[in-house]
Amino acid sequence: MTPSTFAFLTEIVKTRSGGIIGPDQGYMLETRLAPLLKRESLADLDALAARLKAPRADALAQEMTELLTTNESSFFRDTRPFEHLRALLPEMHKARPAGQPLRIWSAACSTGQEAYSIAIILAELGEADASFKARRVEILGTDITTAVLARARAGVFSQFEVQRGMPIRTLMKRFVQEDTRWRIRPEVAAPCRFENFNLLGDPRRLGRFDVVFCRNVLIYFDVPTKARVLGGIAQILAPDGALYLGAAETAMGVTQALVPKPGERGVYGLAGSAEPARLRA
Ligand SMILES: C[S@@+](CC[C@H](N)C(=O)[O-])C[C@H]1O[C@@H](n2cnc3c(N)ncnc32)[C@H](O)[C@@H]1O
Repeated sequence: MTPSTFAFLTEIVKTRSGGIIGPDQGYMLETRLAPLLKRESLADLDALAARLKAPRADALAQEMTELLTTNESSFFRDTRPFEHLRALLPEMHKARPAGQPLRIWSAACSTGQEAYSIAIILAELGEADASFKARRVEILGTDITTAVLARARAGVFSQFEVQRGMPIRTLMKRFVQEDTRWRIRPEVAAPCRFENFNLLGDPRRLGRFDVVFCRNVLIYFDVPTKARVLGGIAQILAPDGALYLGAAETAMGVTQALVPKPGERGVYGLAGSAEPARLRA
C-alpha cells in the first residue's frame, strides 16, 4: 500500500466514523480488509482506493469503515459502572413521576453485552422491588456497524462470550442454552431495542436519556471529535442523569459541559446541575 493509499483510506474512516488509524496500523487495514478485497476481486489496497475514487462507491466506503471498527465487548465490563448503576436506578425511579419511563442509552453498543448487562440489572432490581418492576424502562443500543447490531438484536452469545464477566448463576437464570450457545431470555431482553446511529450525528433525534453508557469508543477519536460527541450527549442527558465512560476515557479537558460525579471515576453528570441528595459523596 502506498502512503497516499493509506492516507486516503484512513481519511474515509475518520470522516465517516471519527476513528483515527495511526501510521503503525497499516497491518490492520491489510488483515481486516482482506476478505473485502477477495470478494471484490481487488488485487490490493491500492486497487481498493482506486475503486473508492470511482463514482457510486458510497456503500463500499461504508462497508470498509465498518470493517475497521473494533467491536470488543463483554458482559458487566469493568464491573464498577454496573454496580454504580445498580445503586443509581432506584434513586432515579423514586425521583421521577410514575408513568415517566426511565431511558438508558448504550451508545456504541457493539454486540449488545452492555445493553443486556443493564437489562439483567433491571430484572434483578424489579425482582427485589415491586414498585421498581412497575416502572417502564427503555434501553436503546446503538452502533455504526450493521453486523454487530444484527448480533445484538439476536441476543445469542458463545460460551466464551458469556464466560467473560458473568457470574454462572446469572447465566443460568437469564439465558437459555441452545447447543453451545446462550440466548438471553426474552423477558430480560424486552426493554432493549437496537438501532443504527453514528455518534458523529445529532443525538437529539433519539430523545432525552436518564443514563448514557458511552464506553470504549472515544478512545478511537481525536480530541475535537471527542468534544463533539460529548457535547451531543450533554444535550440529551437529563439534569440529574449519568454518563458512564470507559476506564481509559475522560471528559476532563475535553468538554466543560460534563463534570465527574463526586467520588466516582468514569461517571459524569451535567455541569451546574444539582445532585440528588442521597448520591452526594
Ligand atoms: C470497543 S466497542 C465498545 C462496546 C461497548 N460499549 C463496551 O464498552 O464493551 C466500540 C464500538 O463503537 C462503535 N463505533 C465506532 N465508531 C462509531 C461511531 N462513529 N458511531 C457509533 N458507533 C461507533 C464500533 O462499531 C464498536 O462496536
